[in-house]
Amino acid sequence: MNENHGMYVRASAPAKLTLFGEHFVVYGSPAILASINKRISVTLKPNRMNTVSIKYGRMRMDVPIINGRVHKMGTSSRSFLHPILSCLFDMQSELGSLSGLDVLIESQVPHGEGLGSSAASCVAAAGAFYSLFFKKDRKKIFEAAAQAERTIHKHSSGADCYASTFGGILHYKPTSGHRRISIKKKILFVICTTGIKHRTQNLVLRVKRMKENNPTEFRGLAKRANNICSDARRALVFGNYEALGTLLTENHELLKKLNVSHPKLEEFIDICTNSGALGCKLTGAGGGGSIIALIPNRDSRNIISDIGKKIPQSMLAELDFDGIQIAQGLNSIKKF
Ligand code: MEV
Repeated sequence: MNENHGMYVRASAPAKLTLFGEHFVVYGSPAILASINKRISVTLKPNRMNTVSIKYGRMRMDVPIINGRVHKMGTSSRSFLHPILSCLFDMQSELGSLSGLDVLIESQVPHGEGLGSSAASCVAAAGAFYSLFFKKDRKKIFEAAAQAERTIHKHSSGADCYASTFGGILHYKPTSGHRRISIKKKILFVICTTGIKHRTQNLVLRVKRMKENNPTEFRGLAKRANNICSDARRALVFGNYEALGTLLTENHELLKKLNVSHPKLEEFIDICTNSGALGCKLTGAGGGGSIIALIPNRDSRNIISDIGKKIPQSMLAELDFDGIQIAQGLNSIKKF
């Protein structure tokens, strides 16, 4: 295996916004996600050493290969290197006997801010490993990435990995997969990041406790979240962004009842609403992280600039429609 010295594979995967349904999706409800043009990439290059050597910024880790295998590594699941090692560890029985590899991780995605950085790194890692050793297969890449993400938080719904693998705006249901949502009208979201890092796993456990302690209340909220998702899909398809804004804000109210908001998120939501956003909500696990604000197409410039003055750490989200991308050899970016 990996006799391909001199060649490289580079896979990059987009971050995402959860527009609707986070947390409820862990219990089988649908969610709507949109990929954005901030990417994480993983480059693999076979080396002649008997080591998997991983670099991310100033971080570096060398994992020895013993008898063609790497052994269970002691990285914390909080480490940015964890998804890569976890993917490699899970996939090595399929890969056969392993020989040396240089792994370079590059990221444009803020980590722990609700934008799906861990899912994107799992997808990029799975995409790179699959493409170097097998053929490119999005479904397999998704499955390997989702399995690696479960080593970071074991109740993962797979929604973030799905969005990162397939790109675009997706209606995702854990039991029945995804349907792409085509929009005809430009859609503008501003993302405001609080800088307050969260751990998805802790917030998912907080919701689990709430569900166990108040099953009837949780059922009612989940039913409402389901309906919001169906209405939101229609509003997206028909370009009814006034209605979509109202649904975003309603979804945020449900998340508040799950106790996953944060005073800073509430402050940002008030600012964006007062600046003229059509609707706002936290995105992802909550407890810090980010909010998204839907901006009306009319007067968008003034509204975006007003938000920018009050919340410097805000940015306009550009949607991504490509999902994972793989480059091999020298310059050829292959879409599939
Ligand atoms: C995290 O981005 C989204 C959650 O719904 C967890 C999951 O879907 O696995 C909170």
